[in-house]
Amino acid sequence: MGRIVYVNGEFVPEEEAKVSIFDRAFLFADGVYEVTAVIDGKLVDYEPHMERLHRSLKELEMGQPIPDAELREMHEQLVERNNITEGLIYMQITRGVAEREFAYPEDAKQTLIAFTQVKDLTDSAKARTGIKIISIPDIRWHRRDIKSTGMLAQAMGKETSKRAGVDDAWMIEDGHVTEGTSNTAFIVLDGNHLVTRPLSNKILPGITRRSILKLAETGQISFEERLFTIEEAKGASEAFLTSASSFVMPVVEIDGEMIGGGQPGPVTRKLREMYIDAARNE
Ligand code: PDD
Repeated sequence: MGRIVYVNGEFVPEEEAKVSIFDRAFLFADGVYEVTAVIDGKLVDYEPHMERLHRSLKELEMGQPIPDAELREMHEQLVERNNITEGLIYMQITRGVAEREFAYPEDAKQTLIAFTQVKDLTDSAKARTGIKIISIPDIRWHRRDIKSTGMLAQAMGKETSKRAGVDDAWMIEDGHVTEGTSNTAFIVLDGNHLVTRPLSNKILPGITRRSILKLAETGQISFEERLFTIEEAKGASEAFLTSASSFVMPVVEIDGEMIGGGQPGPVTRKLREMYIDAARNE
């Protein structure tokens, strides 16, 4: 059975969902998005995702097609209509449909779409074994803090990692790790000290990142927001990545070198457990 998806105010079977070929997200990637996890049929970290959405819209001087309360209702309806107990909701807002001119149109009708994806998030096979990654150059634009739909560099990076026989890639710029193709990069030093890159226009402000740093405080795990190199990551006691679609995912190999004995480490496992518990009790 196909999904029920949302397009511009209507819930329709996925085969019936249509948007214009003149939509600016189709022509220019002129759109923003959010991916929110669902556990036990409930939205995880929903409010901070919406705060980030507001920020992305503001930075691009884009309107919000429907008010916050309706956005939330739309998310909840999608969960209910598709019987999602665990998975993701993808939501995208575009500048809308207009004749193809580069500058922002004055009166384009914005497009809002959303759909669900079923995914095992809490009981993930990959989280038990950990994943392998490679490092690749970061070839993206300089407003990575905006959650834009322009994700071609990341798609290329994922494809490169797939062809290299690994699960993902961390991107490198000016000798430092920026982030994963669709996740935030963390390393653990000396068995109990987290390091992740500080927020700037160089990375997306991850919502899971934010929750993990809060949980680290509660769990008495020290942390530092600073730049780090891939060599430092390779010598770390543990490495992991975070995102709405993987929560806390252990990284056990980087560029063919084993991290922490090739097994998910204790700090990573603890943070993953704490994150899932907190999400369940939200
Ligand atoms: N991606 N960095 C990038 C480039 C991302 O695309 C993402 C999320 C993250 C992690 O952010 P968060 O913790 O808020 O999910 C970091 C989503 C999951 C995606 O594109 O599917």
